[in-house]
Amino acid sequence: MTSAGPTIDPQTASALIDLDALRANVTAVREVVAPAEVMMVVKADAYGHGMLACAAAARQAGASWLGVAVPAEALALRAAGDTGRVFCWLYGPDEDLTTLVDADIDVSVQSPGQVRTVMLAATRAGRTARIHLKIDTGLSRNGCLPQDWPALVDAARRAEQGGAVEVVAVWSHFACADEVGHPGNAAQLEAFDRAVAEARAGGLAIPVRHIAASAAALSIPQSRYEMVRLGIAGYGVDPADGTMAADAGVALTPVMTLRARLVNRKHVTAGTGVSYGYRWRAPQPGAELGLVPLGYADGIPRHGAGRLELAVGGRRVHQRGSVCMDQMIVDLGPGATEEIGDEVVLFGAPGPDGVVPTASDWARWCGTIGYEIVTRIGARVPRVLRG
Ligand SMILES: Cc1ncc(COP(=O)(O)O)c(C=O)c1O
Repeated sequence: MTSAGPTIDPQTASALIDLDALRANVTAVREVVAPAEVMMVVKADAYGHGMLACAAAARQAGASWLGVAVPAEALALRAAGDTGRVFCWLYGPDEDLTTLVDADIDVSVQSPGQVRTVMLAATRAGRTARIHLKIDTGLSRNGCLPQDWPALVDAARRAEQGGAVEVVAVWSHFACADEVGHPGNAAQLEAFDRAVAEARAGGLAIPVRHIAASAAALSIPQSRYEMVRLGIAGYGVDPADGTMAADAGVALTPVMTLRARLVNRKHVTAGTGVSYGYRWRAPQPGAELGLVPLGYADGIPRHGAGRLELAVGGRRVHQRGSVCMDQMIVDLGPGATEEIGDEVVLFGAPGPDGVVPTASDWARWCGTIGYEIVTRIGARVPRVLRG
């Protein structure tokens, strides 16, 4: 178990985290992208799977880098004893990066101002800081716009010559990589190549280039360069909620299985209102209801109410009525024999019969993406590690 703070009893409900599956996913992607290296992205508590355990498993599977968003995540990896390369890319204007540089974390930089912030941190830490220059190739999120790039390259070169920083990489991020053939992908690659060429012409060696996350790593071979940043596919969820991984010859296994035991069981007569607002009523000849002890406080999307399906006793059943904060109700169907204590699987590995819904199924029913389904599972749900 990895969760801190009060949790549901793990026998009652838990997210099973299959670390063997994670290792297998990382290995499978490594084989496809080689000789590019793999940075396993473990931000946001490893997309809700538990950061430290997943980071260790990814390392075992050959991820030579770990990627995180915020400094505290990088420092937590170091505190847990990870000594490998770690890249951190999101911090605020007033953050002091001294502890980050002191902890030997690679840092993203997108402006001359951030070069100065990192130089100051390097001076305070008494060591050279490693930086990756972020070019905005078209996502319009983080990153330096092409017209500002020469000034950033110049600032980075001067900082490198002064010994305060070592420029390791140019990096970027795709906007539409989950859509094969989207014209934005080629445009972003062109912009990326231009930025790298300008940086090199400006006196920087740029030994590493990285732009591909899971989708591009799988579907755009020329985007792999020296390294790919692997997030969702490492957790066994298809980056396009479809067959993108399979199309690349990569068989992914979902790492997270969300399961629970029925905590109540009752027959209600036809017409009985079920859950808040009576958004569902039992049809003829009544309904066999089971109560699942997970609700929107645990990350079950309330807006998915009435469309969610679960696996019980080797078959699919429907969630019915409003999802509550801590509980939700399923219609077990006519003649159901389940009792209190029987197992329900919300989503996970589909198995050979495909009965268990996947996170991608849940994403479809909720109008979102598989990323959000796994990442939103709350801290009250204990993560139980396997493998
Ligand atoms: C900058 C960056 N790189 C890589 C990733 C990993 O993406 P994916 O989960 O699609 O592999 C993310 C995820 O959001 C990201 O923000």
